[in-house]
Amino acid sequence: MRVLEERDLPIERIGAFASRSRPGAVYFRGVALDVEPASPERLRDFDVVFFAGGEDASETLVPALEKRGVVVIDNSATFRMRDGVPLLIPEVNAGAVRAEHRLFPVGNCTAIILCTALAPIRDLAGLRRVHVASYQAVSGAGRDALDAFDRGEGAVVRNVVPKIGELDANGESGEERKVRDETRKMLGLPELELSALCVRVPVRTAHSEAVFFETERSTSLAELAAAFERASSIVFHRSGIVTPREVEGTDEVHVARLRPTDASGHRFSLFCVGDQLRKGAATNAVQILELLLEKGLVR
Ligand SMILES: NC(=O)c1ccc[n+]([C@@H]2O[C@H](COP(=O)([O-])OP(=O)(O)OC[C@H]3O[C@@H](n4cnc5c(N)ncnc54)[C@H](OP(=O)(O)O)[C@@H]3O)[C@@H](O)[C@H]2O)c1
Repeated sequence: MRVLEERDLPIERIGAFASRSRPGAVYFRGVALDVEPASPERLRDFDVVFFAGGEDASETLVPALEKRGVVVIDNSATFRMRDGVPLLIPEVNAGAVRAEHRLFPVGNCTAIILCTALAPIRDLAGLRRVHVASYQAVSGAGRDALDAFDRGEGAVVRNVVPKIGELDANGESGEERKVRDETRKMLGLPELELSALCVRVPVRTAHSEAVFFETERSTSLAELAAAFERASSIVFHRSGIVTPREVEGTDEVHVARLRPTDASGHRFSLFCVGDQLRKGAATNAVQILELLLEKGLVR
């Protein structure tokens, strides 16, 4: 709601919903709103409904809205990999949207930050292979996890935890699978070789990622740096470093430590950081609505 307010969208009526009611709990344009329990009946008269309630809320509430032609922008993982459903980062794959689309999942936060950083490389020199290790903030696990962290409780206090989601029979975590599959979908590179290792770290907000990549065509540090400098969604740090603390609360993905890892002209590494509550979730969700308004797909 704060991002909607900041970006000044043409909103006539807004409602706030959760699993239970909380009178006057949230503000929009200075007015206190009651949070109401969500139900299909209460949601179906809105033109656009944003979801950030987890899998259960989306599975239960989205189908009825879809049938009525309501535009749904959904932060949960429920519909992201469904065929025929676009997974949009407006700066990366705006062309994937069609007039008939009504359901717009928002990708995994780590994947959105990764794709935003990789898109200029894809466009400049193509991408053959990506390896990424993430350093993910505690707020990525939701309000309860953040509150526990602030009380000094939980496994991530003074620690790093190399497991986000359940491990499957191959030892891959749920988060690692999402990063791989969704990155391929959002970059439009279904064959991209990609492996991820996702780690929770004791940082409140903003996910960091160490990325090692190989390009299809030969390129140079100077060409890559120029591509990052041209990208509106990226703050490129030609020298020095960037850390989550500086990035918290911002909408861009920061890229630093760009360098070749050998003399081939194909292999490089970088460090990127983005606020996963904003660019990795809320900002990207609102940008999707802006894109739909721009294309005349929502009135
Ligand atoms: N945190 C992140 O960095 C991040 C980034 C990208 C995407 N996401 C995704 O966004 C979603 C929300 O994550 P979060 O971190 O914001 O979680 P959260 O802090 O736990 O908040 C979940 C919210 O959803 C509401 N909710 C839960 N079940 C509901 C239901 N059945 N009907 C209506 N409302 C319901 C809760 O309401 P009550 O408080 O009333 O229970 C609460 O307001 C998840 O799908 C998550 O994967 C999170």
